[in-house]
Amino acid sequence: VLRDDEREAIAGIWARKLRQDAEQLPQAERHRNLEPDSAEFIHAVVVALGATRLLEVGGSSGLSTIALAAAARQTGGRLTSIEIEAARQDESRARLRHLGLDAFVTFINADAGTVIAGLGEMDFVLIDCEKDDYRRFFDLLTLGPGSVVVADNILSHGLTDYVAHARGQWPSVTLAIGKGLEMTCVPPR
Ligand SMILES: C[S@@+](CC[C@H](N)C(=O)[O-])C[C@H]1O[C@@H](n2cnc3c(N)ncnc32)[C@H](O)[C@@H]1O
Repeated sequence: VLRDDEREAIAGIWARKLRQDAEQLPQAERHRNLEPDSAEFIHAVVVALGATRLLEVGGSSGLSTIALAAAARQTGGRLTSIEIEAARQDESRARLRHLGLDAFVTFINADAGTVIAGLGEMDFVLIDCEKDDYRRFFDLLTLGPGSVVVADNILSHGLTDYVAHARGQWPSVTLAIGKGLEMTCVPPR
């Protein structure tokens, strides 16, 4: 279960995102984050699965990172968080340290396309980066039996190509949580 201070941190990041949207800051300056309901959902899924090898592609300033690191604390697992923008990841790292969650995270500051293939098998993956990359990054993953991939922005961005691709391989469903999550489930062996 997420602690109160973790939920407060998630709410604070989300409030900033809404403020920046309302102020219509240039897109490059705005923080884009997973919706808090989606963060609660992925946290619950990881804990329910008992997943220990966790990956997020697009960690940004750390909203989803908090949810997944707190889940890793509970399952005895570890999160690998990939983010291409160093400043965003520095903010996330500081936030996770403040919450005492940094011990459960390996931060990688890189283009995910250059590192995913070398990471080994995963039990849970969040894809939350540039939408054009979803399909390519999905194909780079090594997924263990019973693993789950969740991709954000499915409904907000009409990501029908990604959805069709995921469904061509594994059972998969779009959930109307936040901006729309595609949840793809690899059957257990
Ligand atoms: C929607 S935001 C992620 C939000 C984050 N999951 C959260 O909940 O706060 C997308 C992030 O993906 C990062 N990104 C985009 N392309 C990437 C790539 N090729 N490799 C790693 N990160 C990437 C962006 O810099 C941006 O911070």
